[in-house]
Amino acid sequence: MIQEYDKYTDEDHAVWKILFERQFNNLQDKSCHEYLNSLNQLSAVLNFDSIPDFKLLSNQLNEATGWGIHVVPGLIPVDEFFYLLSKQKFCSSTWVRSRESLDYIEEPDMFHDIFGHIPLLVNPKYAEFMQSFGALGVEHSSDPEALLKLQRLYWFTVEFGVMKTTGKPLIYGSGIVSSYGETNHIFRDGVEILDFNLDNVINNDFVISEIQTRYYAINALDDLYEILKELRSHLMQ
Ligand SMILES: [Fe+2]
Repeated sequence: MIQEYDKYTDEDHAVWKILFERQFNNLQDKSCHEYLNSLNQLSAVLNFDSIPDFKLLSNQLNEATGWGIHVVPGLIPVDEFFYLLSKQKFCSSTWVRSRESLDYIEEPDMFHDIFGHIPLLVNPKYAEFMQSFGALGVEHSSDPEALLKLQRLYWFTVEFGVMKTTGKPLIYGSGIVSSYGETNHIFRDGVEILDFNLDNVINNDFVISEIQTRYYAINALDDLYEILKELRSHLMQ
């Protein structure tokens, strides 16, 4: 599959612009500096002007860390997803939500996949972590229990990860970064942000809903690599 760029309508570009501008401004004091720096690094090919052209974005990503975008029609089986990560390919859909669904979509659209996931992949450490994540998934692709643990870890780090700094949390998870509502939700009183604990994360189901009720905070992006090592040894036992 490829991105058929000419098929995007003016309305698609207009919706992209609303989503990008609104969330770009919202994130300035709420997301980790690594995400903001990476977004900045890609600003020539990923900005509010128009829907990004995957070829240009992939080229720039490839130059930075060797990663590329792999177009998918929607959600794909988890073993295939991990295989692609291990090959430095991040899956993205090509459709954009409608103006009526700015704040809620049932399946990820390209604003989630691209704005949420791609920027941090130009960060060499994060890119390496993601590739290792995929490789661990490939190693355990015939073990459903291990895959479930990997999915749970993915959920509470890559999708809904938060970082704890003095005073307030900072966001790095793509599911939050790409959601205006969830970004603001994190900073409300009563939201449960626990210290990261691998046992809790891999042994409890996550809830797939519009807004999460519980988050796990790491101290720094570098922790992710150690967490993955810990999971690797846990899965070997
Ligand atoms: Fe995602």
